[in-house]
Amino acid sequence: MKELVNRIIKWYQKNQRMLPWREDKDPYHVWISEIMLQQTRIEAVLSYYKRFMKEIPTIYDLASIDDEKLMKLWEGLGYYNRARNLKKAALFIVDNYHGQFPSTYEEILLLPGIGEYTASAISSICFSLPEVTVDGNVLRVYTRLFEDSCNIDKEKEKGRIRQKLMEIVPKNSGDFNQGLMELGETICVPNGIPKCDCCPLKEFCLSRRHQTSLQYPVRSQKKEKKLEHFTVFLFEIHHKIFIEKRMEEGLLKGLWQFPNFNQKMTKEDVIEYCKYKNIPFKSIEKGISYTHVFTHKKWMMDSYIIEIKEEKNDFLGVFVTEEDFKQNYSFPGAFQPFKNDWIQRKGEKG
Ligand code: ADE
Repeated sequence: MKELVNRIIKWYQKNQRMLPWREDKDPYHVWISEIMLQQTRIEAVLSYYKRFMKEIPTIYDLASIDDEKLMKLWEGLGYYNRARNLKKAALFIVDNYHGQFPSTYEEILLLPGIGEYTASAISSICFSLPEVTVDGNVLRVYTRLFEDSCNIDKEKEKGRIRQKLMEIVPKNSGDFNQGLMELGETICVPNGIPKCDCCPLKEFCLSRRHQTSLQYPVRSQKKEKKLEHFTVFLFEIHHKIFIEKRMEEGLLKGLWQFPNFNQKMTKEDVIEYCKYKNIPFKSIEKGISYTHVFTHKKWMMDSYIIEIKEEKNDFLGVFVTEEDFKQNYSFPGAFQPFKNDWIQRKGEKG
C-alpha cells in the first residue's frame, strides 16, 4: 500500500495540470474552484473561475456582492443555490472568523453549502489535514484497482471506501487526493477505454490484469426523469423583449425567464390566452422547441413569438434590449436557446 500511495503522489507531482487555483493553497481559491467543479468539467470552469476571481477577489468582496451580480457571474453553471450558499458562507466567515477561512475539518464542514467532499478537499489541499476526497473519479479508480463490485451509489459503500482510504492517506494528503481524482479524470476515464499504459498503478490494478475495467464501478439503475411540458412566450416589440423574474422559491428561484405556461399549447390556445389576458398582439408565430434536462426532470419546451403593439411593464417584468439583457440579467440554461433564437432572428431582420 505504501508503494501505491507513493506512486500516486509522484505521478501527481510530475503530471498535474497547471490550474489557476493550484498557484497557491489559498482556501478561498480552492473553495470556489471545488464548488464550480462539482457541476462542470475543468475546461469549462476555467473561464468562470478567472472571471469570478477578477470580480470577487476576496471573501469580504463575496460577503458583500450584489445578489443579481453573483447570479450573473454564475449564469450557465447551473445549480444556482451553490452560488447563494457561497455568499452565505462568506458572510458567516466574516462574522465569525474575521474573514479568515477556518482551518479545521469540523469548522469547514459547518459552512453553508459545504459537505463532506468539499470540506475534505479544502482541509487536505490547503491545510494538509488527513482527510480523503471521495468523488466519482476516486470511486472509479478504487473499484477498478481492487475489482470491488459494490454499488457505489450506496452511501454505506462510499463510507466503507472512505474508511479504507483514510487508513492509507499520507501526510501529503492534498497531493494524494488530487492525484487520485486527476488519475480518474485523465487516465482511468469515465467514458471510453482507460489509458492503462500510462497509469502509475498499472502493476497493482486487478481489473487491468483481468481486463474487466469497464465492468467497474457498479451503479444503481438510473431513474427515469419526470417529463414536463412548457409553452414559452416571446413578447417582442421594437428590438426589445419581455422578461420576468421567477418566484423566490423552487427550481431556478429568483432568476429571470421568459413568461411561460406549464402545459403544451397550440397556436389557437395562445391566441385565446392573449385575448383573455388583454395582450394587444399584432402577430403570433411558432418558434423553436427545446428540451432541457435537469438532474431529476426534463422540460419539453415549445415557444411562440408574439409581436405586440405596446409596451406594458408589470411588477414582475421588464422589456429589455439585447445589450441590457446580456449584461444585467442572469438567465438559466433552460431559457437560453430561446434568447439566442431571438437575438439571431433580430439580427436577420436588421
Ligand atoms: N476534480 C475536482 N477537484 C479536483 C482537484 N482538486 N484535483 C483534481 N481533480 C479534481
